[in-house]
Amino acid sequence: MPKIKKVIKEVIKTVRTQSELGVQTGPWKAAGHKIGLVPTMGALHAGHMALVHQAKKVCDKVCVTLFVNPTQFGPGEDFNSYPRDEEKDRAMLQDAGADILYAPSVGEMYPDGTTASLSAGELGSVLEGAFRPGHFDGVATVVERLFSHTNPHAAFFGEKDYQQLQVIKQMTLRQKTPVEIIGVPTVRGTDGLALSSRNEYLSESERGIAPVLYQTISGVADGFAGGQPSAELIAAAVEKLGLAGFDPVDYVAVVDAKNLKPLELFSPDTPARVLAAAKLGRARLIDNIAVTAP
Ligand code: PAJ
Repeated sequence: MPKIKKVIKEVIKTVRTQSELGVQTGPWKAAGHKIGLVPTMGALHAGHMALVHQAKKVCDKVCVTLFVNPTQFGPGEDFNSYPRDEEKDRAMLQDAGADILYAPSVGEMYPDGTTASLSAGELGSVLEGAFRPGHFDGVATVVERLFSHTNPHAAFFGEKDYQQLQVIKQMTLRQKTPVEIIGVPTVRGTDGLALSSRNEYLSESERGIAPVLYQTISGVADGFAGGQPSAELIAAAVEKLGLAGFDPVDYVAVVDAKNLKPLELFSPDTPARVLAAAKLGRARLIDNIAVTAP
């Protein structure tokens, strides 16, 4: 008879207050464990799970937060309709071996009312920030509070939200927060579409069109690396997206990968990134890609 090895996974603990969280993380810290934080707004998919897997690789304990943060949504945006399914999220996290789920209430995160109390600075006012005023102030505010509730050694963010990653890196430097910020590459479908909780808003036919966003920015990145000026590439990309059915195309931009300032021509000394945002039906999709030297 072959031996059957039983793997018993611990049930993931869910906590809802900063003090309950402290009860869990206190002994971990006392034992010298390295704690990794993965902030999310839930509706988890394989993109989020890549952050959890990376956190498990480099940390001893992994805390995932689930909080749909009201201060990063503008008026008329999808705060109320944002997909929420805590049970499903918990099952996925348990499967992935995360140690704790922190799912605070709005009152726990914002005891003094839902206004952003931190500024994301200059980096937060361009690109996404220009189309979603105040968005990154809300992100910076909630991430700083999640850091102070969790006190992690490292925190994991996806390159999918490239500008967000840069804003958070800059914020932690500015505030001298002792948290290592680790960026994780974008997880895509086989057709190239970046996984996103908001992809749920796409109809079947829109889902067929959506990968054109990735194809388009990939083309811009290749053209730019090949020496074409960004202005020409951007104009052609906006036209291509419009013809495919994206409306409006908020921006296609070729920028310095660190300070997000526009670039005209490729230089091997300046890492560059192509970023884009466009609406397709009810979904507003964002994506980005690194420019790699030819
Ligand atoms: P959310 O959109 O839930 O994303 C949580 C984290 O998962 C972010 O760091 C995001 O970049 C990452 N992520 C999402 N899709 C990904 C993909 N396809 N590949 C790799 N990583 C992906 O981003 C937020 O929530 C919020 O702004 C938050 C940081 C939690 C603050 O409220």
